[in-house]
Amino acid sequence: MNVALFGFMGVGKSAVGRILAERNGLRFVDLDAEIEARAGKSIPSIFEEEGEAAFREIEKTTALEVAARDRQVIACGGGTVLNAESREGLSKTSRMILLTAEPAAILERVEAEGETRPLLQVDDRIGSIESLLAARNPHYIRAADLIVDTTGRTPQQVAEDIMNLIGEEL
Ligand code: S3P
Repeated sequence: MNVALFGFMGVGKSAVGRILAERNGLRFVDLDAEIEARAGKSIPSIFEEEGEAAFREIEKTTALEVAARDRQVIACGGGTVLNAESREGLSKTSRMILLTAEPAAILERVEAEGETRPLLQVDDRIGSIESLLAARNPHYIRAADLIVDTTGRTPQQVAEDIMNLIGEEL
């Protein structure tokens, strides 16, 4: 079995995933990093040079390949589970854990990480976060086995929340 952490940008999927993997002797796989390795360039460069549709295609192929392996904690990208094939592939082999956070917390975290999110390179970032969240939330919720809120919590605390919920399965 795998654990797939998914949800919006800035909810802590990678930070929490790394801790969860280490504490449970599982391999940590960051889907964005796998995509970058496969494409040989950064996500902003893929968006800029090839466009979002090409990125989504690489993302789907990568998600399906990773989902076919076992004993991993997979940190998805914010858009990964919006693709039906990726969502189904991941759901077959993984406990699907949705991480959530308030828009202000998301903004604070993504700004702290610099210019790495092409979808948030806009003037009204909080407005963008809110409208993307409104469009995505129903899909996120439908894909989730469990939902864990991360607002005001550290990655360690969130990893512990998850272990309390599914620790025996790991
Ligand atoms: C995206 C989220 C990013 C990355 C890409 C697109 C999205 O991943 O895959 O910029 O559509 O929400 P993170 O959620 O890890 O930032």
